[in-house]
Amino acid sequence: MSKTKTKVLIIDDDPKVGWILSEGLSKKFEFVTARDGIEGLQMVTTENPELILLDIKMPGMTGIEVLEKLNKLEERPEVIMVSGHGDTKYVVDSIRLGAAEFVNKPFDVQEVEIHINGVLERSKLRKEVTQLRGELEAKSLHGGFIGDSGAMNKVKEIIEQVADAELTVLIRGESGTGKEIVARSLHQQSSRKNKQFVKVNCAAIPRDLLEAELFGYEKGAFTGAHKTKQGRFEIADKGTMFLDEIGDMPLELQSKLLQVLEQQEFVRVGGIHNIKVDVRIICATNRNLEEAISEKVFRDDLFYRLNEITLFLPPLRERDGDIPLLVSHFVEKYNEQYDREFGSFSADVTDLLTRFAWPGNVRQLENMIKQVVVRGEESIIVDLIRSGSGSLAIPTVSAKSQRVESSESGAVSDSYSLKEKIGSIVAREEKSLIGEVLHKTNWNRRRAAELLEISYRSLLYKIKDYKLNSIE
Ligand SMILES: Nc1ncnc2c1ncn2[C@@H]1O[C@H](COP(=O)(O)OP(=O)(O)OP(=O)(O)O)[C@@H](O)[C@H]1O
Ligand SMILES: [Mg+2]
Repeated sequence: MSKTKTKVLIIDDDPKVGWILSEGLSKKFEFVTARDGIEGLQMVTTENPELILLDIKMPGMTGIEVLEKLNKLEERPEVIMVSGHGDTKYVVDSIRLGAAEFVNKPFDVQEVEIHINGVLERSKLRKEVTQLRGELEAKSLHGGFIGDSGAMNKVKEIIEQVADAELTVLIRGESGTGKEIVARSLHQQSSRKNKQFVKVNCAAIPRDLLEAELFGYEKGAFTGAHKTKQGRFEIADKGTMFLDEIGDMPLELQSKLLQVLEQQEFVRVGGIHNIKVDVRIICATNRNLEEAISEKVFRDDLFYRLNEITLFLPPLRERDGDIPLLVSHFVEKYNEQYDREFGSFSADVTDLLTRFAWPGNVRQLENMIKQVVVRGEESIIVDLIRSGSGSLAIPTVSAKSQRVESSESGAVSDSYSLKEKIGSIVAREEKSLIGEVLHKTNWNRRRAAELLEISYRSLLYKIKDYKLNSIE
């Protein structure tokens, strides 16, 4: 039996490109063509090509704009840019946007074949490496899920208890708290672990494509549906479906999802037959679903059905003792990934890392550690925190935290001393938090001290020290 041919989508306003390639390479590849960017983008979903040959200069949307749109998809095919004379200035943009290769017009058919094969080969290798890395992480306890604080141990305990129960789990928590990693961990510890874990980000897929993506469609269901396509629910059969950002699921799709949850069956777009699936559903959101229900953008019956078990992931600032563990985990991970030998952080920086509020949670911490490891300079953490903190950061101020010398008006000093820089950042954040809490409590100092978890005397001292007053 002959092997199915790799599908290649050509997006080019010049029809000759398609003719020439089909004539020379149709034994090896199946070519489909689009004459402009808009048609091309639609065909990415309907045709599911493995690779795209994308012309740079086209009327309407340029190849660069098409590439930008493709990058918004959760997964996109590999892209080879086809450039004519004088397009070289776009080469840099295309590289930045992740194009895999370039072909110059006029091209030689054999040269295009070599490029296509090379890109597909590299993409296959990359996927294998990612999968192997994922499997390795999954094998380690809780899939590389680090944390030994009371809050995180509780989360791990619940994961173990419910992983194998056929219950729908709703994972809630601020952005970057690890909702996806928990979903994967639930799958890994369930008896479905050898089947697919399928992730769909409801916020990332355009509304009108989401239904077809989840439930599939029949040939002819809509313009461009040239053949029947399986949806993600079918792919997830016997496995786990992770619906990320469920709070963003359009209302009209929510009833269809409810039906899957209740009857484990659905109908493809444009279809008439019920399709039965056996899928375990895990959802995540950082939206307030109760609010969405009262705003009538989320169905309450769906909420109760999704909510059989709710797992709340606490923000990083509430996980006592986890930051140093995460820091060493990420240092080790990125040392290995980027072949670096970064050692450990100095006591001052460690102190800053543990006292910073991390509004972007574990993801923000991970990104910063990655940059430090790659550049090999711990002092950049100070600038990273300074630039990333803005007004979002709410530092933890505990009774244990030491008072730090503040510079004039709490501004960050220009000195190069690491200790001084850290001190001034902490002071600035501390001043802003105390101001905020005093404002919230209407300057009730006793209540404010309670909320800040510091003594009343110490609050009075800080108010004086930071020159805070109630008119501010
Ligand atoms: N406990 C943890 N141990 C190790 N790595 C973690 C942990 N929690 C989160 N991470 C890492 O932090 C990053 C963000 O985690 P994840 O994507 O699961 O967050 P999320 O809650 O889904 O965020 P969002 O709401 O923004 O989608 C990932 O790279 C993940 O591997
Ligand atoms: Mg997520």
